[in-house]
Amino acid sequence: MPKKILVAVALPYVNGEPHLGHIAGMNVPADIFARYHRLRGNQVVMVSGSDMHGTPTALKAMDEGVEPIEIATKYHEIWKNSLEKMGFSYDLYTHTHTATHKKTVHDIFLKLKQQDFLSEKTQKMPFSTTEKMFLSDRFVEGECPFCSYKNARGDQCDDCGRTLDPTDLINIKSKRDGSTPKFKDTTHQFLNLSKFQDALEEWISDKNDWRPNVKNQSMGMIKEGLIDRAITRDIEWGISVPIKEGYENKRIYVWFEAVIGYLSATIEWAEISGTPDLWKDFWLDEDAESYYFQGKDNVPFHTIIWPAILLGYGNLNLPTDVVANEYLNLGGIDFSKSKGHAVWLSDYLSRYDPEPLRYYLASIMPETSDSEFTWAGYVSANNNELVATLGNFVHRVLTMTNKNFEILSKPSRFGKTDLQALSDCDKALEDVSQSIQDRKFRSALQSAMKLAQSGNKYIDQKKPWFELKSDKTKAATTLWVGINIIATLRTVFYPFLPSTSKLIHEMLGFKENTLHDGWERKKILDDIKIESPSPLFKKLEDTVIEDENNRLMN
Ligand code: 2FM
Ligand code: ZN
Repeated sequence: MPKKILVAVALPYVNGEPHLGHIAGMNVPADIFARYHRLRGNQVVMVSGSDMHGTPTALKAMDEGVEPIEIATKYHEIWKNSLEKMGFSYDLYTHTHTATHKKTVHDIFLKLKQQDFLSEKTQKMPFSTTEKMFLSDRFVEGECPFCSYKNARGDQCDDCGRTLDPTDLINIKSKRDGSTPKFKDTTHQFLNLSKFQDALEEWISDKNDWRPNVKNQSMGMIKEGLIDRAITRDIEWGISVPIKEGYENKRIYVWFEAVIGYLSATIEWAEISGTPDLWKDFWLDEDAESYYFQGKDNVPFHTIIWPAILLGYGNLNLPTDVVANEYLNLGGIDFSKSKGHAVWLSDYLSRYDPEPLRYYLASIMPETSDSEFTWAGYVSANNNELVATLGNFVHRVLTMTNKNFEILSKPSRFGKTDLQALSDCDKALEDVSQSIQDRKFRSALQSAMKLAQSGNKYIDQKKPWFELKSDKTKAATTLWVGINIIATLRTVFYPFLPSTSKLIHEMLGFKENTLHDGWERKKILDDIKIESPSPLFKKLEDTVIEDENNRLMN
């Protein structure tokens, strides 16, 4: 019975271009997961899009003297194009400035209000006396009262991850002009998180397959006691508040509506697909699973705020897992805090191929602790693993076959070494599969590469170049087994390297253009003809390391 799987990828702010930290943390793991499940025959919908109404976008627009929509639209296009070039297989990559999203947000807001999960309260919020405006979220900075991090924002501390209110910040300052705001009364709608305290605690307590950091951070915040949070703001950029009076100049808090983007994107996808009810399969069917991919700073919004909204609304599925990654660092500084010290995706793509990057980022994915991107590591992964191990194995087997056999036929008997090599294929399929299901992507990639390594060892041991001289039938057996290993590599690498996998598929003479034919060692033809193969990967010169490091310094 195929499973129904929602792959929900965090909706990025569109105040700048994507960098490698973004995609290592969310797009790469999500795409591996989605492609694997599709190949297994599961029904997958993978959605994301741009978080258009974030305060980072409003701030950037103010700095540049343009309307926020201009900034949001510009970067949305850049994100969308770069993600497409990387081969990320979104069923829909939309944004939150659509009619469907607004309607969904209003519907959820009103239902929560009707169910008494929202209440109106007056609170003191920072007000800029220089600019005569309320300041919230990223408009203010100060010291975190929990961990003393100096640059905590009005709604979250980037260091300890806790959600905050501006009143929590010590030495609060305007991010725009450094002035000290005054606190002034203002009225807002609050999400009564305290009402979900027990339900959330119970829900998270048995999530033993979640990454420890995700579970511990969320449980820690719940145990500290959930407090009601304002979900409207005194700003102009954002989604209107569906309350007749008093909210004309207020907007819905961006985090309240951005998480709803997963649902509205699924609804939009179903509409575009001509099956408007299909979103229900992923959100209402209790057997459907949902996996949320993101960076660690997003965790409390997905393990506390979003589940509270879902519980309050009723009937909608809670996350099966919140797959959050730690940070990818560059020269010791994490990309997200680095303000310009980053490798930009569009820049990378203007000089290099997508697949070596997909491979390298998966191999260093910051799954349980921060990891480091280096150009030396990238070049080494490309040259030593992709070119010298995977590419070399495929190339040597196919070249020998092409040169020596017009047609290679299935052997009638196998020796012990051949049978061991074939059973290595089945083991690789099992190991990669289990690790991806467990959201352990580094380990899955290692198991895939291990098969290419053992394939090379098999060929070194069997020495088909000698067999060709002494007994051509033996050489045929070795190459036939080699081609079966390649057919398995085609499958196990598909989630990581889809274009390479497609190329291998074609080199093996498979005519149909789909790779959705199961998680298995694809049965090769009994009589197979192999054309002269082209290399799968390009070797990179060592000068790339110095050139790219210099580029980073400038
Ligand atoms: O951290 C960010 O870039 C947020 N825009 C992520 C939002 S994820 C979800 F809410 F959509
Ligand atoms: Zn903190």
